[in-house]
Amino acid sequence: MKALLSAAVMAAFALSSGAAFADADAAMNKAGCMACHAKDKKIVGPAFKDIAAKYKGQDVAAKLFDKVRKGGSGSFGPIPMSPNGPDKIADQDLKDAIAAILKS
Ligand code: HEC
Repeated sequence: MKALLSAAVMAAFALSSGAAFADADAAMNKAGCMACHAKDKKIVGPAFKDIAAKYKGQDVAAKLFDKVRKGGSGSFGPIPMSPNGPDKIADQDLKDAIAAILKS
């Protein structure tokens, strides 16, 4: 029942936003990324648009994938990101999420 309900919520979300990255947004909401991140402003972690600006034109998807999985600090300051394992976000969803962040 719970799984059915969340599938319905995610489907509704994908339909209503209509964007190519709706799945990535839904996955990031589900994984808790949005507790620390927002698109346009710093919360605990940097705004997605600041991440996109920092790495503009660089091939960093694999590096960022690793960083989100393991967590850590140093790119934007001393505050560390906590690790985000495959129990929180699946490989494909994380790849999509990073692609979406880099286009923010
Ligand atoms: C507990 C808060 C927190 C959560 C949850 C969190 N982040 Fe972060 N994130 C941070 C902080 C703090 C940084 C800055 C780290 C640094 O300066 O190296 C960061 C940095 C990043 C970066 C840039 C890394 C770099 O080295 O430039 C990406 C990409 C990112 N987060 C994506 C995600 C995604 C995707 C998720 C969900 C799976 C997530 N974050 C969940 C706090 C968080």
